[in-house]
Amino acid sequence: MYRILEFLRQEKGFISGEEIGKRLDISRAAVWKGIKKLREEGYVIEAVTNKGYRLILHDTMYNEKEIAQGLATKKLGYPVYFFKETDTTNGRLRDIAAGGETEGAIAVAEQMTAGRGRRGRPWEAPAGSGIWMSILLRPNIFPSQASVLTLLAGLAVCQSIEEETGLTPSIKWPNDIMLNGKKLVGILTEMECEMQQTHFVIVGIGINVNTTEFPEGLMDVATSLYLESGRTFSRKNILQRVLLNFEKLYMELLDSHCSFAPFLDRYKEKCSTIHQEVKVLGKETFFAQAVDITPEGELVVIRKDNGKKEVVFSGEVSI
Ligand code: BTN
Repeated sequence: MYRILEFLRQEKGFISGEEIGKRLDISRAAVWKGIKKLREEGYVIEAVTNKGYRLILHDTMYNEKEIAQGLATKKLGYPVYFFKETDTTNGRLRDIAAGGETEGAIAVAEQMTAGRGRRGRPWEAPAGSGIWMSILLRPNIFPSQASVLTLLAGLAVCQSIEEETGLTPSIKWPNDIMLNGKKLVGILTEMECEMQQTHFVIVGIGINVNTTEFPEGLMDVATSLYLESGRTFSRKNILQRVLLNFEKLYMELLDSHCSFAPFLDRYKEKCSTIHQEVKVLGKETFFAQAVDITPEGELVVIRKDNGKKEVVFSGEVSI
């Protein structure tokens, strides 16, 4: 595997799998296996049909020690549970939380084999390419207030990407982060609660950072910071920035008795959904014009079919 790495290092451009195989006297399948292993170690290797492979970045400085080092937060990120491979960080952290872990703990994975998306969809989370992180919170709030945490997580991630990369993503209500019309970040919030009491909340954040390719079918709708800018970024720096910004917003939220109102202007500034035509996929599916966000964080829309104003609480909006 490291001999393959040497070839990739020496080559300025692409080198085909066939060429590597010939020079090392191994099969193309063995080359592919080696590439896969290198990616799992954090090497970002681009693969292009008819061109071959190209080494882009060596981002191996991504483990629990590195993530904890230099973290400027007071609470979030203590401790870090780092998994080289796990099924889903949301699930792992849920188990950890059920065992009594304190607020602020995070679970981070290099690779997830069964990453969870919203509406029961899978989330692609290969090694060496993105930030797959879950954050444990134990806020004293009613379960019905928890959606505000999702909105704030979206805002924190959007701000952090802008600060770390200079790119300007936007929020698709409620909490997808988009760049040039494609999805860059997904957020999945899950909680353990009773009727009137929230035991804990897991905020799961997936950021496509150095992803060079997506499976067919996703290429048109998903993107990464690398694909949009041609540059690679340190996952550790972005992750630390997200924790810091999210912590600030979270503390402010607790101080404001969990009201979303103080964040409304900041959120609206980054939200690209307002004034767009949307498809609301709730109990009923309909087309509408998004016109505003309420101080509670809900989307105000005008239905296309009957011109009536409606407030969309959860559900999903597609543009
Ligand atoms: C979405 O469908 O948009 C939500 C995707 C959420 C993905 C993140 S990655 C970290 C955390 N662990 C998971 O299994 N899912 C979330």
